[in-house]
Amino acid sequence: MSHLVAPSVLSADFGNLQRDIELINHSDADWFHVDIMDGVFVPNISFGFPVLKTIQKHAKKPLDVHLMIVDPDRYTSQFKDAGAEILTFHLEACNHLHRSIQNIKNSGMKAGVALNPHTSIHLLEDIIVDIDLVCVMSVNPGFGGQKFIENTFTKVAALKKLITEKNSKALIEIDGGVDLNNYQKLVSVGADVLVAGNTVFGSSNPTQTITQLKTI
Ligand code: DX5
Ligand code: ZN
Repeated sequence: MSHLVAPSVLSADFGNLQRDIELINHSDADWFHVDIMDGVFVPNISFGFPVLKTIQKHAKKPLDVHLMIVDPDRYTSQFKDAGAEILTFHLEACNHLHRSIQNIKNSGMKAGVALNPHTSIHLLEDIIVDIDLVCVMSVNPGFGGQKFIENTFTKVAALKKLITEKNSKALIEIDGGVDLNNYQKLVSVGADVLVAGNTVFGSSNPTQTITQLKTI
């Protein structure tokens, strides 16, 4: 499988949200990456269900929803109703990983687990076969436009090895600071999905930048 690109809606122009969604619809992008922040798990608040439902209304590609919230189990069915196809929550926000994953799958979505930069991939050893996607945070979650953490390359390579050894089908997603200088190396060490916010929406030609991110 060639890698996927998921522009992060967090960096879109919310005054022209429909326009930016259409831009992604008509680009080479594969998914919409949608960041939900609660101001508790991370020091920022993004948006909630009304905005997510607006995205759902216009988006013609899968919604990859990244929850940066405490107690994610509480809202599983609401995120399904709001159009999430992949629902990712943070390992650091969860006491019962196995149960949370099953809840998401039983609701008819793909289940993702996100790891903060300090969290070891080895914590996933006993659960990796049940996970559809691992979101490796390459910045501290909470904000777009941050600097990429270089240790991510080593971490992704180790995660890829674990996934292969355990015969898991989990995709590896990289989230934070992905740009035109690091994306090829990320794919070469095992990344399957590249999230990009600032690199796409901060560029003078977002459509062309998405095409570049798809090109190896
Ligand atoms: C950060 C979010 C990211 C963010 C990425 O907490 O999870 O999805 O939008 O933005 P960039 O690509 O600008 O680092
Ligand atoms: Zn994200």
